[in-house]
Amino acid sequence: MIRMEKRLRLFLLSFILSLLVSPPPKAAAAQLDPNYYANICPNLENLVRGAVVKMMSQTPVAAPATLRLFFHDCFVMGCDASIMIISSDGSDEWRNPADFSLKAEGFETVLAAKAAVDGDLQCTNKVSCADILALATRDVVSLSGGPTWPVELGRYDGKVSLGSDVVLPSPDFNLDQLNGMFGSFGLTQTDMIALSGGHTIGASSCMFFYNRLYPGDPTVSPGFLLQLQQSCPNPLLDPNAFAFLDAATPLQFDNAYFRNLQQGMGLLNSDQVLFNDPRSQGTVNLFASNQSAFFSAFVDAMTRLGRLGTKTAVDGEIRRDCRFVN
Ligand code: HEM
Ligand SMILES: *[C@@H]1O[C@H](CO)[C@@H](O)[C@H](O)[C@H]1NC(C)=O
Repeated sequence: MIRMEKRLRLFLLSFILSLLVSPPPKAAAAQLDPNYYANICPNLENLVRGAVVKMMSQTPVAAPATLRLFFHDCFVMGCDASIMIISSDGSDEWRNPADFSLKAEGFETVLAAKAAVDGDLQCTNKVSCADILALATRDVVSLSGGPTWPVELGRYDGKVSLGSDVVLPSPDFNLDQLNGMFGSFGLTQTDMIALSGGHTIGASSCMFFYNRLYPGDPTVSPGFLLQLQQSCPNPLLDPNAFAFLDAATPLQFDNAYFRNLQQGMGLLNSDQVLFNDPRSQGTVNLFASNQSAFFSAFVDAMTRLGRLGTKTAVDGEIRRDCRFVN
């Protein structure tokens, strides 16, 4: 009897000790690997790229819309394609005002790529929407003239999408606010500047910068100001009015965005501030003078962005339809 008790106590003690030594696993981030699907869906990269090429040939909006979609996905609940979920009660991320301007072409690009992937019998329902979005994003960048890189894969799709979780940078942010928000995700100022270079493609609705036009913000170059005032005569009356984020080469993924900033031709306040603030000007000048330096910093930062909040089978799933939780 006493021996039994002793054994029990020993057992309990070792059990408690084992708990102390190895705490129960929290929902760990996924272990990502560029070769994750090598045996599961060997033709994955070609299937995604084919769909992306087709979408880009149909509309110039596909590339910028997809790149922005990836950013907005990763910053809210991690890179888990939660941005694509449609909830019947309307409480989903994409209906939050900060996401409402995301263009349909980005969602359509991912859905087309998902259909292409699922059309391969070896791949059907085995590749996450989050990974397809990450691959499609790399492809729109490289097919627009930007860098290419191996995309880390193995994310699961999230099951939660709440508009109330959406916190994204504002175009009126100053450098400290930009660094604060990107820093909260473990991204450096250099990452933040390189990622802002995503504004080398695409457009912005006038409502996001008209406060810089009337009266004219002195950091906007006079010629550019005139041009923008013509594009956005009365933004409140014309919600469809827009301007390109990189007026020099709006469809080309290049470093013209940074050369624009040097000339007072950044469209958003959050763009121009990167040159105007002496703490970030050096990096802008480096990226403006050396496109390879920009490309390599962009690839590094995109890879880090792609690791945010990734899900596993514990807290995620492989969504059959990217728009709905299984
Ligand atoms: C640094 C903070 C950022 C702010 C304040 C910001 C803000 C904005 C705003 C206001 C627009 C215009 C949206 C519209 O009119 O529909 C826009 C567009 C865009 N953003 Fe950002 N953004 C930021 C960072 C990023 C990052 C990190 C990326 C990707 C790496 C990105 C990619 C894009 C793209 C590609 C567009 C054009 C979308 C299109 O033409 O459909 N942005 N952004
Ligand atoms: C430009 O940047 C690349 C990549 O960081 C670097 O290898 C190269 O030496 C730089 N070129 C010049 C002219 O500074």
